[in-house]
Amino acid sequence: PTPLKVAVLGCGVVGSQVVRLLTTQSEDLAARVGAPLELAGVAVRRPDAPRDVDLPAGLVTTDAEALVRRDDVDLVVEVIGGIEPARSLILAALESGASVVSANKALIAEDGATLFAAADAAGRDLFYEAAVAGAIPILRPLRESLAGDRVTRVLGITNGTTNFVLDRMDSQGSGFAEALEEAQRLGYAEADPTADVEGFDAAAKAAILASLAFHTRVTANDVHREGISEVTASDVASAREMGAVVKLLSICELVEGPDGPAVSARVHPAMIPLSHPLASVREAYNAVFVESEAAGRLMFYGPGAGGPPTASAVLGDLVSAARNRVSQVRGAAETTYADLPVLPMGRT
Ligand code: HSE
Repeated sequence: PTPLKVAVLGCGVVGSQVVRLLTTQSEDLAARVGAPLELAGVAVRRPDAPRDVDLPAGLVTTDAEALVRRDDVDLVVEVIGGIEPARSLILAALESGASVVSANKALIAEDGATLFAAADAAGRDLFYEAAVAGAIPILRPLRESLAGDRVTRVLGITNGTTNFVLDRMDSQGSGFAEALEEAQRLGYAEADPTADVEGFDAAAKAAILASLAFHTRVTANDVHREGISEVTASDVASAREMGAVVKLLSICELVEGPDGPAVSARVHPAMIPLSHPLASVREAYNAVFVESEAAGRLMFYGPGAGGPPTASAVLGDLVSAARNRVSQVRGAAETTYADLPVLPMGRT
């Protein structure tokens, strides 16, 4: 069979692991896809930056635009993050006939609609399992496995950094600043941890979870957001005395609005009773707890960040998109038919 050519945009923490897996697993991947996956190129900003993977010299380029527009590229992996140039590059890739796999939660949560419309117009796949909760399969279950059920609520611990900080405050009585410093030292938090600490990262993930759970369009701006920077060691200790732990939750609910069914999406610190499965999510782990009418209560748990776990989700999407190329079909499209209003402030 003709090899499928893969372009990778970005070669940071996640991208380097994607390139590594593409190389080390190439035989298994070929068997699973039904055609070999061949690295066509890796677009980077700084070719000389230190990396966890050896990049074959001839495959490195700084011209991402030219790479995605190449006629022979079948699949594009976007692991740059942020809004631009990621959005333009994904649109260019789809326009040129490639299928796309992205890990970009900020972009999907802000402007998914534009990207999904472009994928529809091109008749190509756009998959983004890695955008929420790293290695944990949660988007495909919401979009596909639970598509015949009625999801009523999704509760997520979707930010590893804040979960680590709150867990240290609980288990060791650390203050917020001290716990955050440790998270930074261990490489969980970003050097500028605002997106984690103030809940922007969790809000983007809540928007994506709510969109898929309720088949509607929720953007990051629709999500009421409150971070953990005001949570004190004594708040955490009082919660513990009451038999609870404090977690930063992404809460997405199907609610009765003033004019019928509506969606509420919010991110804020919440007290979880120790008896709830989410209370057992320690350190930088993630979990997503789903309630639905027929299935009941489900919990998806695992590593939500980091290079190899996130690359695992990216590769899974890549295999799906590649199989679809081989059999000339498309995967499940976004099912945003419900058009439910999102309640202002997300409070119910
Ligand atoms: N900064 C994020 C986290 C990375 O801590 O969970 C994964 O999106």
